[in-house]
Amino acid sequence: MKNTVSTFLSMKQNGERLTEITSYDYTTAKLVEKAGINAILVGDSLGMTMMGYDTTLPVTMEDMIHHSACVVRACENTMVIMDMPFMSYQASVSEAVRNAGRLMKEARGHAVKLEGGAAVAEQIRAITDSGIPVQAHIGMTPQSVNVFGGFKVQGKGEDAAKRLLEDAFTVQEAGAFSVVLECVPPKLAALISKKLTIPTIGIGAGAGCDGQVLVYQDMLGMNMDFTPKFAKQFDNIGERMVDAFRTYMNEVQNGTFPTEKQSFVKSDCSDEYLAKLDAEF
Ligand code: KIV
Repeated sequence: MKNTVSTFLSMKQNGERLTEITSYDYTTAKLVEKAGINAILVGDSLGMTMMGYDTTLPVTMEDMIHHSACVVRACENTMVIMDMPFMSYQASVSEAVRNAGRLMKEARGHAVKLEGGAAVAEQIRAITDSGIPVQAHIGMTPQSVNVFGGFKVQGKGEDAAKRLLEDAFTVQEAGAFSVVLECVPPKLAALISKKLTIPTIGIGAGAGCDGQVLVYQDMLGMNMDFTPKFAKQFDNIGERMVDAFRTYMNEVQNGTFPTEKQSFVKSDCSDEYLAKLDAEF
């Protein structure tokens, strides 16, 4: 079944939980598609997970287009949502629409995501009006890490909780088809989810959201430096990869790989002819 914005809305209406996960390349996206997850987020987290930056701020439109296009080529049924990178939408509404349009035309995904509440409501409205679905993202928005003074939980305290609820209504009214709630206290996230008609997608925001999103390296145990507290490790693939790389290295070094079985073409030459070549050269 093809996943679209309609799937998001109907699953919310039916009380079914949505699943979303990041991917940044063709191979991983194929595996996610095979698993049947509703949506892939080509997150600007690729700046950290794939490119080794310490924040998402250096990620460019070209990075997002390149990685999103790889993912899109793997997806038949999975909806592909593409992050708008830092400074591709904040400066003006027209720039936001142009850059959202570039992602849709050049990478050919199905929706864009951008960070912020009331501050980017005009951008959400204009992008949606130009025919591009928008997933909003509020709470801990990593592109504002320098304003927050670090990657910190948002919506703590009464004023902050009210502001976050207002932001959620604002992005819904602006036309967003769903909203990511990142690092929001679970009871507040559950309240926002109850109040909105569009689905909430939580990350570090508890089980009361309408769906969940995770960065795939975190949930597979591939992030050897750091795993966020909220990201359950569903496997330990990082260690299994290191073991496999070591086994390969050892087998090459001790001559047990490759064997005859892994050789594509058997020689057409006789042993006598090869011995003749050996003598001649
Ligand atoms: O960039 C990203 O991967 C994200 C998720 C953490 C929601 O924005």
